[in-house]
Amino acid sequence: MIECEVLAGLKPFVVDEVRRVLGRQAELVADDDPTALRFGYSGQLSALLRLRTAVAAYLLVTVPGRRPSALLGDTTLFDQVEAVRRLHPPGAFSSFRLSAPGKESAALRRLREELTRRSGLAYDPEDGELLLRIRRAPAGWDLLTRLSPRPLSTRPWRVHNLPGALNATIAAAAVDMTRPRGGDRVLNLMCGSGTLLIERFARGRPALALGCDIDPSALAGTRGNLAAAGLTGSVGLAQMDVTALCFADASFDVLLADLPYGHRMGSHQDNAALYPAVLQEAARVAAPGAALLVVTHELRLFERCLATADRWWSVARAVQVYQKGHHPMVYLLRRTPMAAGKALRHDDASHRAVQATGRSGNGGRTGGAGLRGADRRSLARGGVLPPSREVHRPGERE
Ligand SMILES: C[S@@+](CC[C@H](N)C(=O)[O-])C[C@H]1O[C@@H](n2cnc3c(N)ncnc32)[C@H](O)[C@@H]1O
Repeated sequence: MIECEVLAGLKPFVVDEVRRVLGRQAELVADDDPTALRFGYSGQLSALLRLRTAVAAYLLVTVPGRRPSALLGDTTLFDQVEAVRRLHPPGAFSSFRLSAPGKESAALRRLREELTRRSGLAYDPEDGELLLRIRRAPAGWDLLTRLSPRPLSTRPWRVHNLPGALNATIAAAAVDMTRPRGGDRVLNLMCGSGTLLIERFARGRPALALGCDIDPSALAGTRGNLAAAGLTGSVGLAQMDVTALCFADASFDVLLADLPYGHRMGSHQDNAALYPAVLQEAARVAAPGAALLVVTHELRLFERCLATADRWWSVARAVQVYQKGHHPMVYLLRRTPMAAGKALRHDDASHRAVQATGRSGNGGRTGGAGLRGADRRSLARGGVLPPSREVHRPGERE
């Protein structure tokens, strides 16, 4: 039996992924625990290490017996430990830790000593890489051994850890909500360290992928993480203010945005101006019917902004996730078709910008996402643009 640890709110996504990736090898057990998914499994254990929406995956065996001493005569835990070690290169684990009720009891002390003797792993109650869990079950004891040295949600590509970076399992579920397709033209607004972009690529290569952020150090983090994910050159990055994007109208099918929550990143005051501006500028660059995926913790503000942006965006799905102290919502918004004859052409927007900034505007645009040819070629090569060369103010579009 396998047990996946799940963030509350994401279980439907883990169910979908297990069905999609493991197919008939997984036989799901129906229960109403929102933080775990259990299934019988007949496939390769290594396939479980590729799950992206689960926090962690464990081998699970139930051993009969009322007292912890029942565990002493049983070799199941040792067998689990060896099965997990075989999944990884030698040396991947040097220590183990144990989470169990009454773990200082004589029986569990003896179990730990036995584990150390048999496996050669040191007991490290704080940082042991091999995580073993023992918990009471109706008919005895559940023994769980985590399949990976770190949780699956700790991605190996995360070499730059931006404070406030999105949990990767939430990002994977968010990407899922957009139903990724090969023809997607994807823009990650406020890409931070690139979590949503990298999780988007995990579901297949889109036709176009661009990321922008106002902060050059965030973009440097994205570049590093993309490189660690083997995606150098696959994503164009631009330093840009999301409220004044230098992309043509209707350029993207999928927009992804993990908005600043206003505590660790940004402020509530800034967000009051930022959130409506993001909805407006995203509406401009979104193709009719495009998806805008928003992750936010400023729920009241965002709901207020949505109410005034309902001519551009309708809510297709909203999911709340419970992650430690945070309960962000993930919204999938759909761009409403533009009212005929009412859409403001991009040229008009640039024209206003020229007036507003005194800079020259839109010359030399050559398609793509509405960039100048050299910029477009640079982005397509995975290059980085400096802060917006062309600034056009978001105005009344429709
Ligand atoms: C919550 S973080 C995104 C984190 C990202 N999802 C990750 O996993 O690393 C929000 C990002 O918005 C960016 N940002 C804030 N205001 C912006 C603006 N006006 N234009 C573009 N980016 C902005 C910040 O620099 C920050 O990187």
